[in-house]
Amino acid sequence: MPQPRVIQNPLVDRRAVKSLVDESQAFHRSMPGYQPTRITTAPGIAAKLGVRSVHVKDESGRMNMPSFKVLGASWATYRTILRALGLPVDAGIGLPELKRRLATRPGLRLIAATDGNHGRAVARMAALLGIGAHILVPDDMVQPRIDAIVSEGAEIEIVDGGYDDAIQRSADLADENNFVVSDTSWGGYVDPPGWVIDGYSTMINEILQEIESSTVPRPTVVPAQIGVGAFAAAVVRGFAGSEHTRLIGVEPTDADCMAASIEAGEVVTIPGPQRSIMAGLNCGTPSMIAWPDVSRGFDAFVTVTDSAAEEAVRLLYADGVFSGESGAAGLAGLLEHAAALGLGTEDDILLISTEGPTNVPAFNRITGAQLTEQGQK
Ligand SMILES: Cc1ncc(COP(=O)(O)O)c(C=O)c1O
Repeated sequence: MPQPRVIQNPLVDRRAVKSLVDESQAFHRSMPGYQPTRITTAPGIAAKLGVRSVHVKDESGRMNMPSFKVLGASWATYRTILRALGLPVDAGIGLPELKRRLATRPGLRLIAATDGNHGRAVARMAALLGIGAHILVPDDMVQPRIDAIVSEGAEIEIVDGGYDDAIQRSADLADENNFVVSDTSWGGYVDPPGWVIDGYSTMINEILQEIESSTVPRPTVVPAQIGVGAFAAAVVRGFAGSEHTRLIGVEPTDADCMAASIEAGEVVTIPGPQRSIMAGLNCGTPSMIAWPDVSRGFDAFVTVTDSAAEEAVRLLYADGVFSGESGAAGLAGLLEHAAALGLGTEDDILLISTEGPTNVPAFNRITGAQLTEQGQK
């Protein structure tokens, strides 16, 4: 297993980073269960890191789902279906009306490859729209995550290999009745993953609004966990203009495709399959549409071990935040590399805990908690 490492980014050019798009916010506000998620303080983590403050954006209960990913999946699904029906985005058509119109088009399905959270969110959207969902998952997906996707009414296909193999299979299934809603992009497939990034901006805007109103200090450091880089693209679009905010990309040592791409100076694919316990971060190729902003906006990239992720889950739990291994990975990056990153008493850290415990038995083992089902003690 490769050793954890720190890469100072030689490609930084923050002025070249796109600004945040906020057109998805009104749509999200109209969705069942929408409300801004909380930002809480984490004094135990601040003491451990020796910094002035730590605030945590807690995405464990986003629109009745255990992860922020529904923000991207919902907006990308909405835009994909509008386009398929030849409807303009500004027509003001809500989900109930869209569902009525889809009732005249039987046989439509949403297709998505996933490490867990994105696919579950796409499945939820299909259920809300009254259409089918076919979700492709890597062959090492743990049963609780499979069960969660099935509970949304989706059909599951287990693909031999890892996340990149599932993506390939999803691309092969696309046709006029099967709409791929992917959070990553590839040659000729860029619009839905672009809408995924735009959808995440609702969460970033919620954070920026709290910073503007001074309920949360402007952070000096924001770590962002990276899978294909869509989440990181939304983070960098929100913070690139914030001169005194350092952005740190965090990946598992076993799934460091962004770090490897930064070192190569271009998007590269690393050998797979990736098998980190940070399942949401397991992928071998950065999204080509996330790359321009992520490669120019992040100051450094670090890689972390599974045991650092477990420690991060425990520390968040001690400060009252229920986080899964992928959700805690940003903190793992700071824990594993605090000295190299030069964290100190002048730092205000903003963590984004991007998921709750999506593998409850693992969460209980790591923390000693006794959750019986997601989000409940
Ligand atoms: C909980 C969680 N955090 C972070 C990420 C990383 O997002 P991205 O793949 O856009 O880099 C994922 C991806 O699935 C995730 O599930």
